[in-house]
Amino acid sequence: MDHYVVAGNPVEHSQSPFIHTEFARQTGQAMEYGRMLWPLGSFDDSLRALVASGAKGCNITVPFKFDAFRAARRLTPRAALAQAANVLRFDAPGWLADNTDGAGLVGDIERNAGLALAGKRVLLIGAGGAAAGVLGPLLTAGAREVVVANRTLEKAQALVERHAALAGEGALLARELGDAGVGFDVVVNATASSLQGAAVPVPHSVLARGALALDMMYGAAAQPFLDWAAAHDATGRDGLGMLVEQAAEAFALWRGVRPATAPVLAALRTRMALAAAGARAKVER
Ligand code: ATR
Repeated sequence: MDHYVVAGNPVEHSQSPFIHTEFARQTGQAMEYGRMLWPLGSFDDSLRALVASGAKGCNITVPFKFDAFRAARRLTPRAALAQAANVLRFDAPGWLADNTDGAGLVGDIERNAGLALAGKRVLLIGAGGAAAGVLGPLLTAGAREVVVANRTLEKAQALVERHAALAGEGALLARELGDAGVGFDVVVNATASSLQGAAVPVPHSVLARGALALDMMYGAAAQPFLDWAAAHDATGRDGLGMLVEQAAEAFALWRGVRPATAPVLAALRTRMALAAAGARAKVER
C-alpha cells in the first residue's frame, strides 16, 4: 500500500483525502491518503520525517507552498515559473516539485465550465502564491489579454515580469485593483478577500455581460463572491472544480493514470452540501 498525505497548517478542512481516496478506488490503485498538520516554522524537519516514514509523495497547502518549491531538487517548468509547489514526489534521484493549481484552474474553466480560454480577456485578482500558480497556465491556454490586479501593485508587476516571455506584446499587464479595466470575459479571484469575509476587491464593471467569475474559495467563504457575480449578470463559479482538477493532475504525476474528475466533483458537492445542512441543523437545535 503506497502512502500519500496533504500537509498544511491549517489542514483539517482539506477535502484532498476524500478526493484521492475516490480516485484510488476508481482506478484500482493500492494507495492510502491522509492529512498532516505541520507546525509553522518546521517545514524541512516535517518533510524529512514524512519521507523517512516511506511516503511516496504529498500535496502541500497553505502556508508551505513556497517551502515545498525550495526543498525540491527538481522542478517541473510550471513549478519553476510559479516559484511555489503544491505537489511533491519523492523520487530517488531527488524530490520532484510540481504545481498543478494552474492546470486545475484551466481544466475546470475549459472542461467543467465549458469555456475555451483562447482569445479571451482574463482578469486575475491577487499576486500571492495562489495567483502565481495559475498565471502561466492561463497564458499558455491562449488568453488574448491577462491583467493581474493586486492591492500591492509591485507584487503584480513582479509576477508579470516573470511571465513576460509567455505573453505577446501588451497582452500581460499589472494594474491597481480600482483601475483593473472593464468588460473581462473571465475574472478569477485569487486573493484572500473571500476567506477574510471582505468585499470583492474590484468594481463590478470588470465583468462583461455573461462573464465567468471564479473564486478559488469554496463552501460558505465563496458565497458572497458568487452572489456578487449573479447580481451583475455574470456566471459565478467556486473553486471546488479547480480543487478536484488539480488533484487529478497530482494523482497522474504520482500514479501514471488520470482519473475521471466529473463523478468525484459531483460526490464532493453532495458531501459538502450535506455537511453544510448538518451544521445548520446543529445551530438550530
Ligand atoms: P495565497 O497563497 O493564498 O495567494 P498570499 O501569498 O498571502 O496567499 O496572497 C494573498 C493575496 O490576497 C495577495 O494578493 C493579497 O494582496 P497583497 O499582495 O496586497 O497583500 C491579497 N489580499 C489579501 N487580503 C485582501 C483584501 N482584503 N483585499 C484585496 N486583496 C487582498
